[in-house]
Amino acid sequence: MKILVTGGAGFIGSHTCLELMKANYEVVVVDNLSNSKEEALRRVQEITGKSLGFYKVDLLDRLGLEKVFAEQEIDAVIHFAAFKAPGESVEQPLRYYHNNLTGTLHLCQVMQTFQVKKMVFSSSATVYGQNNNPPLQEDMPFGLAINPYGWTKLMMEQILRDLHTADPSWNIALLRYFNPVGAHPSGRIGEDPQGIPTNLMPVITQVAIGRLEGLKVYGDDYPTPDGTCIRDYIHVVDLAIGHLKALEKLSGHPGLVIYNLGTGEGSSVLEVINAFERASGKPIPYEIVGRRVGDLPISYADPSKAGRELGWEAIRGLDEMCADAWRWQQLNPNGYD
Ligand code: UD1
Repeated sequence: MKILVTGGAGFIGSHTCLELMKANYEVVVVDNLSNSKEEALRRVQEITGKSLGFYKVDLLDRLGLEKVFAEQEIDAVIHFAAFKAPGESVEQPLRYYHNNLTGTLHLCQVMQTFQVKKMVFSSSATVYGQNNNPPLQEDMPFGLAINPYGWTKLMMEQILRDLHTADPSWNIALLRYFNPVGAHPSGRIGEDPQGIPTNLMPVITQVAIGRLEGLKVYGDDYPTPDGTCIRDYIHVVDLAIGHLKALEKLSGHPGLVIYNLGTGEGSSVLEVINAFERASGKPIPYEIVGRRVGDLPISYADPSKAGRELGWEAIRGLDEMCADAWRWQQLNPNGYD
């Protein structure tokens, strides 16, 4: 089976390509390399000893995308390609809406033209908004997004739901990720944020390697045991494997299905710092500062639906996530550069 992976050179995309190739899928990547490096794909091929197809194509270039479908007999698509920085999306809403929504519309149009009607979509726990109480479940009402990035995830989900309503021969899995961290245990591929990172784990690993001076912990007055926010961190390899399980599910023609991909366990910011210090043997200097706008006190998944219906479960714990993130950072102090 040949799978087209949009955004396949990115953090989650590259790990998913690797697991697909290990499981003997053929992989074709479309990526504009706006926030990723082709080197990640070179290393995926090196680790697996197999080759993949790569097109440097932007989803905004509809003709370029059509050419890929004309040249390759694609059976299904995993759609990661999107801008993903919440803060940046507040400053550049038009760029975010145009890129994420138009890119997704082009992809769906071209898939329809070529009668490829299976898609696994990279969604986010951000769609639950601020008013649902964890553990978050797939049938809870959508929330109001808190930034344009979050709105694009909600809107892309809605486009796919409407598409399936209009043409039920589409099979679509919406996968709602919690907080993906860690790296492949080889230390050869991992997260390589451009510029100064905003997510917690890359900030921690860059402090540990000496690229950043210290960590700011955004608030210790939340209604949690230690006062810092709680998130459901999930190892990127577990997350990647979830995509393979979703693809298997789609081959049974389930229609439109939605799954949380999380561990079901919450960890506070201070717990993550402690786990990382244990795994790396490095002290992580931090200071407590004010709350970050838009942060939820507590977010974690109920992952039981994916367990029941996909036979998928996250098995890698926080210590392993920290050890693997640290190995990647140590072996690649400047990322892929
Ligand atoms: C963030 C986005 C979310 C997006 C996800 C993608 C916000 C508000 N949410 O999730 O929409 O889907 O990234 O990866 O931006 N923290 C610190 N200091 C730091 C960085 C983070 O204390 O320097 C804390 C945050 O306050 C939060 C936790 O660490 O409590 C995790 O933060 P982060 O990694 O940015 O993820 P989310 O905010 O959960």
